[in-house]
Amino acid sequence: MARTPQSIPLLISLSVLAFLQTSYAGGIAIYWGQNGNEGTLTQTCNTGKYSYVNIAFLNKFGNGRTPAINLAGHCNSASNGCTSVSNGIRNCQNRGTKVMLSIGGGVGNYSLSSSYDAQKVANYLWNNFLGGKSSSRPLGDAVLDGVDFDIELGSTQYWDNLARALSGFSKRGRKVYLTAAPQCPFQDRFLGPALNTGLFDYVWVQFYNNPPCQYTTGNTNKLLNSWNRWTSSINSRIFLGLPASSAAAGSGFIPANVLTSRILPVIKRSAKYGGVMLWSKYYDDQSGYSSSIKSRV
Ligand SMILES: *[C@@H]1O[C@H](CO)[C@@H](O)[C@H](O)[C@H]1NC(C)=O
Repeated sequence: MARTPQSIPLLISLSVLAFLQTSYAGGIAIYWGQNGNEGTLTQTCNTGKYSYVNIAFLNKFGNGRTPAINLAGHCNSASNGCTSVSNGIRNCQNRGTKVMLSIGGGVGNYSLSSSYDAQKVANYLWNNFLGGKSSSRPLGDAVLDGVDFDIELGSTQYWDNLARALSGFSKRGRKVYLTAAPQCPFQDRFLGPALNTGLFDYVWVQFYNNPPCQYTTGNTNKLLNSWNRWTSSINSRIFLGLPASSAAAGSGFIPANVLTSRILPVIKRSAKYGGVMLWSKYYDDQSGYSSSIKSRV
């Protein structure tokens, strides 16, 4: 049987079209905790906008320090004032949002002094925020989904040990998610070896405050090249980490229409695409950024 003359070109163009349009759906991750005027955790999840919330930050730990969580104006954990955050955590989880404790941050005093110290910190995190037991759980008795590594200062060592130790707790039943917020220059100076363990579920790369690999007005090349480097090197779901407003970072803000027309359609072709991470809930409230992009993420 002879085909009609048009059918072969049609078949080819249809399959090219299908290939070009393969596109993955993602979710929005948000940082909450560093501004008392950004609403409670319960209000944050009740917006329905976020699939992941990182509670920021446990910014003092390791090397013999007494661990401390800092939630800015939300509550004072030094006087045991943050335990009601548990209600917010459970509400988020009931709505299908995963909640992580973010450790580190840009301001604090933290480091790991040995692999033994990494195991000690892992035990502390397990007992105080995850499935273990402690008489002084800073966020109350809710069990968080995992731990987010936002390591930006101090020593570069032993973060891989911490990742392995935390991941080991998954054997006790409930999975402990591991996430991280490396800077976009590859590979991250603090988190490179930890990410190479392959144990991280979600990696929200900070494509801001990093001129070599971020968007600059009218130019998506540096960002897209860096995105390709990350997705071809790291075996995790990769997220595009961005400031939620131009005030949220020194540089790297991407206007919502540029993101949805010139960047998301490209990065969503990657099977490792996980979505967009925003810093932070406070700035997202000011700008409405997540609302402008959500249907396209
Ligand atoms: C940071 O922690 C170390 C303990 O490892 C301590 O000696 C130092 O005083 C701390 N620095 C600040 C600024 O709190």
